[in-house]
Amino acid sequence: MTREVVAAAPVPVPGRAQRVREIAGELRGLRGALIPILHAVQEELGHVAQDDVAVVADVLNLSVAEVHGVVTFYKDFRRAAPGRTTVAVCQAEACRAVGAVELADYARVRVGCGFGETSADGRITLDEVFCFGNCALGPAVQVGSKLHGRVTPARLDALLGEAL
Ligand code: FES
Repeated sequence: MTREVVAAAPVPVPGRAQRVREIAGELRGLRGALIPILHAVQEELGHVAQDDVAVVADVLNLSVAEVHGVVTFYKDFRRAAPGRTTVAVCQAEACRAVGAVELADYARVRVGCGFGETSADGRITLDEVFCFGNCALGPAVQVGSKLHGRVTPARLDALLGEAL
């Protein structure tokens, strides 16, 4: 079964621009402040929206294009609001050696979207991660903040069931 992937529509959040400006202002003195600011925005607000890019550019006296280029270059930065639960499948070497590639294929079909995307119902965002430090117990999958080892497709089904 294939589910349609919906691009998250930008939803204006009251006070978001002000909060982004505060975060950027607090961290602007750091050396190479742009990346830490973007990480802080994403950590607190869930993603880095296009409107956030303009605010950060203004605070750092950079062009919007410069900040946009960084946000789009690094896969770490999410440009749309994530789903209710994030499911991250390790794709680093040790996990790949014990079935993580096949598990990732299964996850994409099961959730109905690719890595970096959110299911049509907005419940699950699927991500790939390159090593959780749980290599002896691969394939490793993180659901929300909880890490799981030796995840099989059947175990993934159970974890997704708990996440829904
Ligand atoms: S390679 Fe997957 S947790 Fe390290």
